[in-house]
Amino acid sequence: MLRLTVLGAGYLGITHAACMASLGFDVLGVDTDASRVDQLNAGQSPVFERGLEDLLRAGLSAGRVRFTTCYREAAAVGDVHFICTGTPQQPGSGHADLSQVQACVAALAPLLDRPCLVVGKSTVPVGTARRLAAELSSAYPGAELAWNPEFLREGSAVADTLSPDRIVAGVTSGQGEAILRRVYAGPLSGGTPFIVTSLETAELAKSAANAFLATKISFINAMAEVCETAGGDVRALAEILGADPRIGPAFLRAGLGYGGGCLPKDIRAFVARAEELGSGAALAFLREVDAINLRRRARTADLAFEMAGGDLAGVPVCVLGAAFKPGSDDIRDSPALDVAQILTGMGARVTVYDPAALGNARRVRPELAYARTLAEAARGAHVVLLLTEWPEFIALTPDSLGATVARRNIIDARNVLDPRLWREAGWEYQALGVAEQAQTKC
Ligand code: UDX
Repeated sequence: MLRLTVLGAGYLGITHAACMASLGFDVLGVDTDASRVDQLNAGQSPVFERGLEDLLRAGLSAGRVRFTTCYREAAAVGDVHFICTGTPQQPGSGHADLSQVQACVAALAPLLDRPCLVVGKSTVPVGTARRLAAELSSAYPGAELAWNPEFLREGSAVADTLSPDRIVAGVTSGQGEAILRRVYAGPLSGGTPFIVTSLETAELAKSAANAFLATKISFINAMAEVCETAGGDVRALAEILGADPRIGPAFLRAGLGYGGGCLPKDIRAFVARAEELGSGAALAFLREVDAINLRRRARTADLAFEMAGGDLAGVPVCVLGAAFKPGSDDIRDSPALDVAQILTGMGARVTVYDPAALGNARRVRPELAYARTLAEAARGAHVVLLLTEWPEFIALTPDSLGATVARRNIIDARNVLDPRLWREAGWEYQALGVAEQAQTKC
């Protein structure tokens, strides 16, 4: 059986380590953060992800997974080393910050003394893998590099890893391909497509997939902008478009737009890299995709301003949602928190509630006020904004919420409530992409 190491115990690394252990491999996870390593060895996941902690605990008690800070140990045991470190956006530019990936290779390469395959899973600018391959083989000629991008979504990361839509194998030899086929024998036996390609195409696969998803969301949000001025209803429009099998209904939910630790920064890094390569014009449209996405946040704040009668100074406002999407406690580039911040800047007295992300939100945006319950956040509010579509917010009724607020004003920035129900109960209801006279159905 191949012995695996997973370098970087972030969202991707923890999920990959736990899933590979569940497939029967011996896995050693490596992270430079000793307290994170201790936490993981005690069976606690530092990230919130459905099913992950159970899988981690099962792997630990079966003795199949363990975490360490020691790269020397990883180099000594690993047949396959997975690079799973983060590639955040560089401050002040669109470029990806590759320092963690770079540090990981720099730590591993000089310690290698047995043949191995190093497999990159992190999202990197095209061209990175070729450079890292040269670095590794000059440190130790028995080390080969492959690129195997990860497409997992937060909230379904375990299922996406164990039953992926496709496995991309960017390789430089038949041996690299054969090893990846052994690693993924489980999903492959279930019929998952295995696409063998160059290192460059594998790197591009992830950037292109995220660019397409972001474009689809911004396309429907651009239609939402037009609906607002033309008197249309973007919900009905999305239903009509999605019924065409060439378009499909997924990723056509108009609203506050995308956020999170991947789409926003990956789109910007893709543009920055294309510009470096001289093909910036080909991706210029992605700048507009980003701009459309950010405009939705400003529009939401404007709606609140209008609802408050043109002055938000001192106005109590309830923000429902802090996570970038439901089912996650991740607040990286969260549209909801951004709107809360904009409203605060406009003078509003904002109180934020989220069922899972309050701890993270408090840490990163300590200047905002938070409530421990939905009722506490809504008490006395003049405007309520639904910014992350958690099931408990979708299940709200006009009367239950109406009993807590001071004024019945609601902005449904995720298009999840029934406008007629709320208006009939005496609420002033506004949504993104739905002109008032166009709201005929839900
Ligand atoms: C995404 C990609 O889906 C995944 O393949 C990649 O590996 C990482 O980035 P994730 O960030 O977990 O995954 O979230 P996803 O479910 O894709 O949603 C991204 C954002 O788009 C969220 O903020 C979500 O609220 C928003 N979204 C999604 C919409 O606004 N409308 C939609 O129709 C779909």
